[in-house]
Amino acid sequence: MIDLALRSAQDYHNAKAAATNNSESFWDDIANQFEWHQKWDKTLDYDFHKPEVKWFLGGKLNITENCLDRYVKSQPDQTAIIFEPNDPKEAAQHISYKELHSRVCRVANMLKANGAKKGDRICIYMPMVPELAVTVLACARIGAIHSVVFAGFSAAALAARINDADCTMLITADGGFRGAKITPLKDIADEALEQCPTVQSCIVLKRTGQKVAWNSVDIWWHDALEKVDDNCPAEIMDSEDPLFILYTSGSTGKPKGMVHSCGGYMVYTAYSFQNVFQYQKGDVYWCTADIGWITGHSYIIYGPLAVGATTVMFEGIPSYPDYDRFWEVCAKHQVNQFYTAPTAIRALQKHPSTLVDKHDLSSLKVLGSVGEPINTEAWHWYDDHVGKNKCPIVDTWWQTETGGILISSLAGVTKQKPTYATLPMPGIQAVLLDNEGNELEGEAEGILAIKHPWPSIARTIWGDHNRYKNVYFSAYPGYYFPGDGALRDAQGNFRITGRVDDVVIVSGHNLGTAPIENALNEHPNVVESAVVGFPHDVKGNALHAFVIVKDAAEQDGVLVSELRALVAKTIGPIAKPDRIQVVSGLPKTRSGKIMRRILRKLAAGEHDSLGDISTLLNPDVVQEIIDMR
Ligand code: PRX
Repeated sequence: MIDLALRSAQDYHNAKAAATNNSESFWDDIANQFEWHQKWDKTLDYDFHKPEVKWFLGGKLNITENCLDRYVKSQPDQTAIIFEPNDPKEAAQHISYKELHSRVCRVANMLKANGAKKGDRICIYMPMVPELAVTVLACARIGAIHSVVFAGFSAAALAARINDADCTMLITADGGFRGAKITPLKDIADEALEQCPTVQSCIVLKRTGQKVAWNSVDIWWHDALEKVDDNCPAEIMDSEDPLFILYTSGSTGKPKGMVHSCGGYMVYTAYSFQNVFQYQKGDVYWCTADIGWITGHSYIIYGPLAVGATTVMFEGIPSYPDYDRFWEVCAKHQVNQFYTAPTAIRALQKHPSTLVDKHDLSSLKVLGSVGEPINTEAWHWYDDHVGKNKCPIVDTWWQTETGGILISSLAGVTKQKPTYATLPMPGIQAVLLDNEGNELEGEAEGILAIKHPWPSIARTIWGDHNRYKNVYFSAYPGYYFPGDGALRDAQGNFRITGRVDDVVIVSGHNLGTAPIENALNEHPNVVESAVVGFPHDVKGNALHAFVIVKDAAEQDGVLVSELRALVAKTIGPIAKPDRIQVVSGLPKTRSGKIMRRILRKLAAGEHDSLGDISTLLNPDVVQEIIDMR
């Protein structure tokens, strides 16, 4: 293992001071603990106004040598991945570093044999099986840029992502198990590929064994694998070469393909993983996220493997076969660090606590939370029932764009505070701004911004650097603007208060309202729509759609189910609004801008705090919406 560890509050404060005073020598020392083919000649080059960020310039490496080869030398038999299948009756797999290395190299050769090469974009649309992690690493091995698309997205969403990056290859599976259901991944992929002219081959893993259609681009994974061996030297990459693209929602319709680079991403995910979770050699760490999201990329695969950890991959869902599956798996694999989302905690909290208490959770040392603010009740339930008040809880704030955790306590090392993400990581200069962009001092509430780059910041949006500039660097020049609001207490602890833009976090999933509105507007009877979030006790937020229709005679019930189906088809089931309300108008300013602030209040039932609505173009519509609910 490499030694990146901050073991005491003093270590944290020293690291923070060192990183602030001389960020370059601080990150040099950390980056030096990795294996490079060639050392970098410049640590950092950046200009937030351009914007441009480059780390470890001229450095040459392959991230898979850092995640695999060096541990094949030092700990070949240590388990790298524990795979826990959807069905508890199916045996778990323990894959050692040696075995994982061999599997990755073989799949890398399979990709090459089918035409993949350095710089190609490869789309991965797979269930949470070990082959998914292996494929991600195999792409990295040969320098192909992976673009994982969450296996809950629809054919249209998959096609849009494949086409945005001109992917030449798709790796998928016949189907994926999810609780009692099967997702027909190959059928969805087939539908998507009808619109994807750049894809030349589609490699299909057999997982569920269901019947699938077969096209000229299709190749069975097992057939392709038979033809290759496991000797695959790593492609030597430049530190700044793209490692992967991962799409995230934005305030406008089109998803943003965030591009992460090889060197900086590796250094920061390893460093943050090690320190936030206080991972120790031999520990079993489990992050319940899906690899289709950034949390899975950074804290199931790359961060843990880069420090030689044992990481659990779970194929199933928390409620199958019963609501105690998480705790059963923790006990079964003697999990030491457990990392999940507040939405899962809130869903499980609704069930009798005997479902938790009946399992032996004594192996747990650290609990983690990610993806949305954790409410007080969920925090205490997690602490009491899962952690038995003896496990520190790390509330980790970060984003797809940041690559790694930026604000969090370090388990047992720095102080936690319920519902607060607490302190920025060393090297992260988090500030609060007022609406004019002035920095606020001390105890304050404002807009969260970061004023110095860290190694794993996304370098661009694939194919649209201008959008990258506009979304993240233009609102407050000189700062990275994440789109969240926060407050800070007198001790400097940050509490994230939520999004300040038109992105809504539903069950921990980041959903832009614009693409949902676009989907609703596709319906022949919809004239205009506006989607906002409202508080929901399990999901954190849910979606409320206000729609104006052409033909008010159409039955509401039919329309609502058609609209929900349309959103599921265009984006995926996760984006379906909980409520769809037909209205005769939307509150607008005199310049015609929809007043989302008012819609948010209406959706939340906060009719008494609407503020002055007399300046609206159509104030009457507000009362009408209230009366109709
Ligand atoms: O609003 C913040 C929320 O999730 C957003 C990022 O979403 P995504 O890119 O999908 O990444 C999720 C996993 C890192 C943020 O802008 N968010 C994430 N973590 C927290 C959070 N909000 C409050 N507390 C957190 N710990």
